[in-house]
Amino acid sequence: MRNPKQRSIGSRSLRPESLMMSYGFDPRLSEGALKCPIFQNSTFVFESAEAGKAFFELAYGLRELGPGEEPGLIYSRLNNPDLEILEDRLTLWDDAEAAITFESGMAAIATSLLAYCRPGDVLVHSEPLYGGSEYLITNVLPEFGIEPVGFQAGIPARTLAPEITKRVAGRKVAAALIETPANPTNALVDIQGMSDLIHGMGTGDQRPVVMLDNTFLGPLWQHPLEHGADVVIYSATKFIGGHSDLIAGACLGSTKILQPIRVLRTFMGTMAGPWTGWLLMRSLETLKMRMTAAMKNARYVADFLDDHPKVTSVYYLGLLRESDSMFEVYRRQCVGPGSLIAFEVKDGEAGAFRFLNALQLVKLAVSLGGTESLAEHPGTMTHADVPPDDQMRMGVTPAMVRMSVGVEHYSDILADLEQALEAV
Ligand SMILES: Cc1ncc(COP(=O)(O)O)c(C=O)c1O
Repeated sequence: MRNPKQRSIGSRSLRPESLMMSYGFDPRLSEGALKCPIFQNSTFVFESAEAGKAFFELAYGLRELGPGEEPGLIYSRLNNPDLEILEDRLTLWDDAEAAITFESGMAAIATSLLAYCRPGDVLVHSEPLYGGSEYLITNVLPEFGIEPVGFQAGIPARTLAPEITKRVAGRKVAAALIETPANPTNALVDIQGMSDLIHGMGTGDQRPVVMLDNTFLGPLWQHPLEHGADVVIYSATKFIGGHSDLIAGACLGSTKILQPIRVLRTFMGTMAGPWTGWLLMRSLETLKMRMTAAMKNARYVADFLDDHPKVTSVYYLGLLRESDSMFEVYRRQCVGPGSLIAFEVKDGEAGAFRFLNALQLVKLAVSLGGTESLAEHPGTMTHADVPPDDQMRMGVTPAMVRMSVGVEHYSDILADLEQALEAV
């Protein structure tokens, strides 16, 4: 394909997995290299002073892009080829207009929230959230006058509406941060229902921005922009990176909604570096294979745990039944159940610790979405900063283990779980 941004052959649109190897990269600009090289550069040479002036005018929004004009490269805090090509590729999975990448998932979340929230504003958020987001929202942002109003995941939006409206009490809602499925419980939030509710809280031409952390299902199994969210956020450390060898984040949405976030990224310097961008492009080539293999394995693991006498409950989207209150939401907004499983074992924290300490193939580590299976204890690890009473209210119990199922042979994972459960 001569045009690096060609997305179809004749009338046939190409799927994202077919485009991940080449989309957005023109070998003619890099000595015919098949793969995009690492542009390990802080700065770029302008062909002329006039070209430099034009690039800055565009980068600082001093004028619009002219017909046929391309924004030029300036300095790697503003733009870099590895990040630009990566960002083009990331848009394809969620069918987003634009993407911006960050040095971590937390950098993506913090930069996005600070771009839209001001002192006196309310930030609505789901509970539970990943522990780092929870800490940022309940401990850091209030010091800047941004007030959190939390709501419980797993409850229909119409049931929650009166309580949220009462707690907002007529103040300006600037944004919402929703995490669904919630980390670690897999509880769901109805994206369309909650987006409609939050958008309805705007005043005049002010429209609250609904940000959705899609890390748990990744770009394959849930597409929040189709269900009313404005910004999709990823910890790209997880499924997008997929090899547990980097930390990164991403935001996707319309060019207009991302613009204030992009500007703040430039001035806070929270962008990813070229090496990380290059690693993520390598990872995107196998994203679908990895996520599909992990999800197939997760089904075996969930069924195994569900039948095991030492396991008291299993929280996995693939086990939801039609009688479950969130089944309809699951069918509507999720493409697949993913590969994250939370479960509770007998004998509370002591039982969970004996199980974790006995694992051999599955590694005892936080994080998720890598090729290897990992297990951790949310109550004392990823969510340790959430007070015990709040943990219980959110369904994070001492007996809970969170497992990210990897791509090993499923029977080896089951054998390891079997022997580790003997220790419970
Ligand atoms: C759901 C979710 N969001 C955000 C983050 C933060 O991402 P990072 O560690 O890349 O900053 C994590 C990390 O575990 C996460 O699980």
